[in-house]
Amino acid sequence: MNRELLDLLNEQINAEIYSSFLYLSMSLYCDDMNYRGFASWLAKQYAEEREHAERILKYLQARGEKPVLPMIEAPHQNWTSLLEIFETVLAHEKKVSSMIRNLMKLAVSHEDYETQNMLRWFIDEQIEEEEQSSYLLEKFKKVMNNEAGVMVLDKECGKRTD
Ligand code: FEO
Repeated sequence: MNRELLDLLNEQINAEIYSSFLYLSMSLYCDDMNYRGFASWLAKQYAEEREHAERILKYLQARGEKPVLPMIEAPHQNWTSLLEIFETVLAHEKKVSSMIRNLMKLAVSHEDYETQNMLRWFIDEQIEEEEQSSYLLEKFKKVMNNEAGVMVLDKECGKRTD
């Protein structure tokens, strides 16, 4: 595999694990605030991001490459509001989408068809990730000044199953 592409895939593993810790940190904040539905939604994100990292790890192994396990930067932990959290989720997912697009661009330029195939899954996934986080942010903005409305949304988020 092309060296630059391999390095970038390893960086993506780092980014996915960082994302998982970021969502765990948000989930803990929501749990502290007794918003158990939001905490559960974010805990599901935490688990999903670990799966994303493992997907790339397994792909590199299947290609005979050795994944490099990274040093993970500590995520932000001093959250001050739910609005800050939901805005950060959307902004973060947009950033990840752009990283995936960069990876695809490089895989295309090196005619690495196998990596392009693997990345197509991530491209579809990012559409869903951005759509979900945008929905949550917009819904939250509508109810944020009404605690009863926030509790309804919290309950809805608690029903997330995957
Ligand atoms: Fe792995 Fe939420 O992107």
